[in-house]
Amino acid sequence: MTETVVIFASKLGSTRKTAQYIAEELGADIFDLKDQSIIDLSRFGRVIFGSGIYGGRPNKLVTSFVQHNKGQLEGRRVGLFLCCAFRDEEAAAQCEKVSKEMGIQDAVFFSGVRKQLRKGVMPGVDEYVSRMKNSG
Ligand SMILES: Cc1cc2nc3c(=O)[nH]c(=O)nc-3n(C[C@H](O)[C@H](O)[C@H](O)COP(=O)(O)O)c2cc1C
Repeated sequence: MTETVVIFASKLGSTRKTAQYIAEELGADIFDLKDQSIIDLSRFGRVIFGSGIYGGRPNKLVTSFVQHNKGQLEGRRVGLFLCCAFRDEEAAAQCEKVSKEMGIQDAVFFSGVRKQLRKGVMPGVDEYVSRMKNSG
């Protein structure tokens, strides 16, 4: 399977836990942009970004990493997951807007992650992980 890296920033912890879960399931490397902002992407075929949403906007650490690493990201499969409070159409519209602004086409959102983490059941995240596994 493609070497994958999960790169995230989290304020309240949900994105961090979701990123850890995804990385573990995919056997991926993981970086917290709070700890490290320079990351060599050369050995990764796939880069998955994770961020929370605050006032409709993703974490600045993530947007600026994407901006500053456009060259490195070219030619790699790039994905984005957003942890958010909004649900359904409202969350989908928010996700679409962020996806366009960041220039990352493959963007998904996970609503209510905190509750799911408490229950230990994350169907949306599991579905995402399966899609990543199935796409090689
Ligand atoms: C100040 C603030 C603003 C938020 N604004 C939004 C928002 O505009 N849309 C949304 O869906 N969720 C919003 N949320 C919920 C967060 O996106 C959600 O809690 C997410 O899991 C945060 O990610 P984190 O735990 O990794 O920091 C907001 C939360 C806070 C604290």
